[in-house]
Amino acid sequence: MITYRNLIQCQMRPFKHSKAYFTLKSLSKKYFTDQQLRLPRHLASRLLMDGNLDALARFFGTDKNESHYYTQHYHYHFLPFRKRSFNLLEIGIGGYENPWDGGHSLRMWKSYFPKATIYGLDIQDKSPHSEHRIKIYKGSQIDETLLHQVVKDSGGFDIIIDDGSHFNEHVIKTFQILFPLLNANGIYAIEDLQTSYWETDINQVSWGGSEDLDAPFTSVNFLKRLVDGLNYEEFSIENYQPSYFDQTITALHFYHNLAFIYKGDNREGSNRIGR
Ligand SMILES: C[S@@+](CC[C@H](N)C(=O)[O-])C[C@H]1O[C@@H](n2cnc3c(N)ncnc32)[C@H](O)[C@@H]1O
Repeated sequence: MITYRNLIQCQMRPFKHSKAYFTLKSLSKKYFTDQQLRLPRHLASRLLMDGNLDALARFFGTDKNESHYYTQHYHYHFLPFRKRSFNLLEIGIGGYENPWDGGHSLRMWKSYFPKATIYGLDIQDKSPHSEHRIKIYKGSQIDETLLHQVVKDSGGFDIIIDDGSHFNEHVIKTFQILFPLLNANGIYAIEDLQTSYWETDINQVSWGGSEDLDAPFTSVNFLKRLVDGLNYEEFSIENYQPSYFDQTITALHFYHNLAFIYKGDNREGSNRIGR
């Protein structure tokens, strides 16, 4: 079916690569502040790229598409939520020390999910990014009291994305705090799992990962153990007490440096013959 949006998108495609488009873009940047351009940019994204997450990532300037190829997976997993009214939390707003920088992915999500409220949490002050349907919190992703407060204020999240510090210890602790608070049938995504394999990098940042693929403290090994938990009802361990994660994780999907963990009811009963 051809909709008016398809029609406009087709008409706009050649325009987006034209000299006129780039002139218009640089003139608007010259005469308007970033804040003044937010609403027109949001409306343009809704009109021209409605639901096209790759295009939205490029348009809003997040690297979720360019260097990571994450958007294809996000679209696959998040599509059922697109037109729903719900809350999404992303840890890590971007732009580090500069309060005005970052916010790219928050605006991408706001456009992709037209009825959702997008919450962003960052250790740096990112208050300038607060706007209609975008709420900003400052603090650490391992601050348990703060995380509980954010969940309470929002009324609960259906989607949580960890794109924060990427320190192994943080990734695990944040998951341990937030996954139990995620709404039933929600999805928890963790980006940049490459740090699981890094002790330090060329800048001497200690990521807390390891080259030892069996190191018990890395984020990926933590997630691998959850895979076993999916099948806890088949364990032969006497008096095994299933953990919260055993009982509530219904699926784990792994991609290059990216994982999705689904929450639901994982108490289907054993399939063991003779039990
Ligand atoms: C990779 S950037 C996020 C990019 C953004 N999500 C995007 O896709 O455009 C990581 C952000 O995490 C923030 N961060 C670092 N450590 C953190 C922590 N402990 N708690 C919360 N945020 C943290 C940084 O300040 C930075 O802005």
